Amino acid sequence: MALLKSNKVFVSLGNITPSLGVLSARNSSWWGGVQMGPPDPILGVTEAFKKDSNPKKMNLGVGAYRDDQGKPFVLSCVRKAEALIAAKQLDKEYLPIGGLGDFTKACAQLALGADNEVLKSGRNITVQTISGTGSLRIGANFLSRFHGGPRDVYLPKPSWGNHTPIFRDAGMQLKAYRYYDPSTCGFDFKGALEDISKIPEQSVILLHACAHNPTGVDPRPEQWKEIADIVKKRNLLVFFDMAYQGFASGDIDRDAWAVRYFVEQGHNIVLSQSYAKNMGLYGERVGGFTVVCKDSEEAKRVESQLKILIRPIYSNPPMNGARIATTILNTPDLRALWLEEVHGMANRIIRMREQLAAGLKKNGSTHNWQHVTDQIGMFCFTGLKPEQVERITKEFSVYMTKDGRISMAGVSSGNVEYLAEAIHAVSK
Ligand code: LMR
Repeated sequence: MALLKSNKVFVSLGNITPSLGVLSARNSSWWGGVQMGPPDPILGVTEAFKKDSNPKKMNLGVGAYRDDQGKPFVLSCVRKAEALIAAKQLDKEYLPIGGLGDFTKACAQLALGADNEVLKSGRNITVQTISGTGSLRIGANFLSRFHGGPRDVYLPKPSWGNHTPIFRDAGMQLKAYRYYDPSTCGFDFKGALEDISKIPEQSVILLHACAHNPTGVDPRPEQWKEIADIVKKRNLLVFFDMAYQGFASGDIDRDAWAVRYFVEQGHNIVLSQSYAKNMGLYGERVGGFTVVCKDSEEAKRVESQLKILIRPIYSNPPMNGARIATTILNTPDLRALWLEEVHGMANRIIRMREQLAAGLKKNGSTHNWQHVTDQIGMFCFTGLKPEQVERITKEFSVYMTKDGRISMAGVSSGNVEYLAEAIHAVSK
């Protein structure tokens, strides 16, 4: 009888399916209602840049480091780590759901400092993720499923363009706190404190650990301390996004200062890390997501749920990039070489900032460009208005995001003068 029933179901579905198929093929399409979406605000700039035939064109859209010849840069420590890994003839078995154990350990140590009490007492859980974006998304999904407080996440205004869809698609409500002051092209400390002090208790606040994207404006240590106090008073859950450790100042410990300070002050933070910029492992997609818990027992429970979250999305992470990062972090001479190279990248960017500011002056610009050298990290938030951005792209083939952000990593000794001329021409 049961068999007969299931046969019937099978037969009736069999009748329906072909007729629907015929209908859709002849009269309409499955996707007729899908509307054309806009290009990505950041990655779409590269698409437009590629179509431009001007030999002087500059892509200052996406944040990806270039050497002084304007070429993508593979760090020597990465090449050396790759050679060591290749020589080992390792297998290609699946990694565990949470990633390579040696990697997650080294990743948490890099962020929190090897001697951190959190690590010693085992009250963190760190999983390997698909770079920073994947980490943020796993974090957002985790909050959406388990955070008992309001589903609100407060982002700095402005924040990285991808933060909004990441949290929105995970089912969180987006809110904002003041961060950037357009009148000074600097940090709106007063505005930030005022807004943060009004955030409903137990909400989530997102903080950029260093090299704030897109503004390049970071709080100073004494300002971080006040922020940490208010965040504690409001009992907010802190989500740190650290995509640029080492890339801001050239010093991995200095750039992790805010994260470590918050943890020291008793904030049980969640943290996203990326190795795209600081190791140049962009396409390898290496990152980490950490939850600092009350104790090791809580960490075990959180770990079990992170695994349940990850498994149906991508099962387990890719291994190659994690092996490279681990080899660099755990091999003393490669680690030393890496620190030198991070320093070198950060310094080249700082030099370009100085040359750009000097070039603007040389061209006769009377604006105050102090922020070009005050801001830090990959990006300079120029202050150019959308219509000026449109002009600089059209007339000079200088490509940047509409908000006037330029990736300083795309500026080199060969094109910095051209950039200064172009910025001056559209801003005078
Ligand atoms: C950027 O902001 O340009 C980078 O973080 C790259 C990206 O994925 O947007």
